[in-house]
Amino acid sequence: MNILGISGSLRQASFNTALLYTARELAPAGMNITIHRLHDLPLFDQDVEEQGDPVPVTALKQAIEAADGLLLACPEYNGGITGVLKNAVDWASRIGKGRKVAALTGKMVCIIGASPGITGTVRAQDQLRLVLRRAGARTEPQGDVLVFQAHTKIVDGRLGDERTRDALGRHLQGFAERLAATAG
Ligand code: FNR
Repeated sequence: MNILGISGSLRQASFNTALLYTARELAPAGMNITIHRLHDLPLFDQDVEEQGDPVPVTALKQAIEAADGLLLACPEYNGGITGVLKNAVDWASRIGKGRKVAALTGKMVCIIGASPGITGTVRAQDQLRLVLRRAGARTEPQGDVLVFQAHTKIVDGRLGDERTRDALGRHLQGFAERLAATAG
């Protein structure tokens, strides 16, 4: 089971990227999480798209297509998803030249998120779910992994909080089970 992990933060010391790396560590047997960076992805521009996808866009689409499911680490900016993540979803929601369907179509997506605030990334995660559904992806029905007060739990890029690690592990296990059930 190949899962593509994407963080909506470009920050070097990002809590969300750290959460993604922890997910890779805690993934259940048989789940392999590859992390795809968005640093090179250009801003969506329909004029550029009409000339053909730039290399980082093709790389993103191919990585999504090759994955059995996506794991998105979703930061919260101003009560919503980051521009970085929305930009990636916008590119991947488009068919583009030489494809029959968009990379996101029918793709199963699991969402996690971390914030120093006390509400975690609940608003951004809700928003991301709506955006993904609109883009044709399938989001996980089960509860969120909301890592609130992340600065107290993720130190030097490591999630040390045992309860959160347990919750993340269970979340990934549930995702693996649902992926297996829908694989037919
Ligand atoms: C934030 N932050 C933030 N946090 C939150 O819980 N709700 C919010 O609405 C916002 N809004 C917001 C706007 C902008 C422009 C910035 C830069 C930050 C704080 C944010 O959660 C914090 O910077 C995290 O560390 C960002 O995630 P990464 O980069 O650590 O993954």
